[in-house]
Amino acid sequence: MNIARHHGHSRRTLRVTAIATAIATVAVLSACSSGGGGSTSTGTPTGNPTKGSITWWASPITTSGADPRTVLINAFEKAYPNIKVKLISAPNDTDTNRATLTTQISGGGGPDVYMGDVIWPAQFGAHQLALPLSKYLGSSYWNTFASGLVAGATYNSQVYGAPFFEDQGFLYYRKDILAADGLKVPTTWEQLVSDAKLAQSKGQVKYGYVFQGANYEGATCDYMEFLADAGGKVLNTKGDASAIDSAAATKALTFEQSLVTSGVSPQATSTFQETQSMNAFSAGDSLFLRNWDYAYSTSQASGSAVIGKVGVAPMPTFQGESTPGYSNIGGWNLYVNPHSKNVAADLTFIKWMTGKTAQTDLATQFSEIPTNAAVRSSSTVKNANPVLAIVSTTKLVPRPAQTPNYPEVSQAIYSNVNGVLAGSLTPKAAIQKANSQINTAVKNGGL
Ligand code: GLC
Repeated sequence: MNIARHHGHSRRTLRVTAIATAIATVAVLSACSSGGGGSTSTGTPTGNPTKGSITWWASPITTSGADPRTVLINAFEKAYPNIKVKLISAPNDTDTNRATLTTQISGGGGPDVYMGDVIWPAQFGAHQLALPLSKYLGSSYWNTFASGLVAGATYNSQVYGAPFFEDQGFLYYRKDILAADGLKVPTTWEQLVSDAKLAQSKGQVKYGYVFQGANYEGATCDYMEFLADAGGKVLNTKGDASAIDSAAATKALTFEQSLVTSGVSPQATSTFQETQSMNAFSAGDSLFLRNWDYAYSTSQASGSAVIGKVGVAPMPTFQGESTPGYSNIGGWNLYVNPHSKNVAADLTFIKWMTGKTAQTDLATQFSEIPTNAAVRSSSTVKNANPVLAIVSTTKLVPRPAQTPNYPEVSQAIYSNVNGVLAGSLTPKAAIQKANSQINTAVKNGGL
């Protein structure tokens, strides 16, 4: 995981970088001591690897244009004509998705294979909601992935998910409006706000910046970026106590609040998930958008009002910090339900979906960041769209998801951030509440 491709000069940036790197290193080491990165696989999966029918639970990957899930299933069934895959469309919101799925699996049912968030391995591994794939797949398979991804899917020395696509936060902007106003792409939050206010005052757009502030996981992702930019962090180095109660955390949240109170971002930001912010940008209503990689292809799909007018850049940071700003790491893995009867066919499907054909399709047709190392470094893929061309320049911050209690940690963040954006909490009070809720979450059987 390239946590800090850009070496910052500020001490705070270096400290965050060092901690993030340390966490990644621990994860890599634990992956290597298991089936994850090094040792051989031992288990023989049940079922027939080239025959049968399987169900695949997956949320929509994009919000308009062709459905990548169907495109990939059709191609897989051509390659394996005796395996039928039935798609079960999962909820869009990652929290609702997880709640529905965990209820089904705990009750003894659920799909065979599911596309699950990169933040799930600790919780799902600790509660037997996913099969440890490293029991069946050895290092020759895990070595096909871009660096760091397998470590991120590892919990307690077992790999629970096969990385399917990676997400990173990006800044999307209107090329036409910046050019008309004689502006460069902003590299600081302060510049972004002043560019936004200018375009709004000229009536070129209704909003300056749209992002995710609803009461859900996405609000944690966006806040992680502001927090890391300001030099703050969520947990202490050991991961057993909150470290969020800091001047940096309050600065980050005060800035986020000011986006809404100044009118740069819509009043409705406290209800915005990815879809609402995407729709506002695609309708031509906003100068800037924070969203994941797929947003480029969605902004260029038919029905969009901004076709040919969109550029993409790494995230901005606060004035005085080294550029670029932090991008949160997201993405989705493929997991196997422990109740699945045809694990052999599940694995055939997973291997194909993480192989060259599927990964190239995901990258070139849907602007997803491929997890397959060879596909990611292919120049055809890099030339396919501007998002893939700049992936190597982003600076990444992960969410603190190594604890099985991550859902509670994240809720402590997003519910309080949302309270501020909705106008019911002050930034300082929100950080204090988040601090005590995070401490409760990690002390109740956290790391
Ligand atoms: C994207 C990311 C995922 C994140 C979610 C939040 O789907 O890939 O990791 O949790 O957005 O909305």
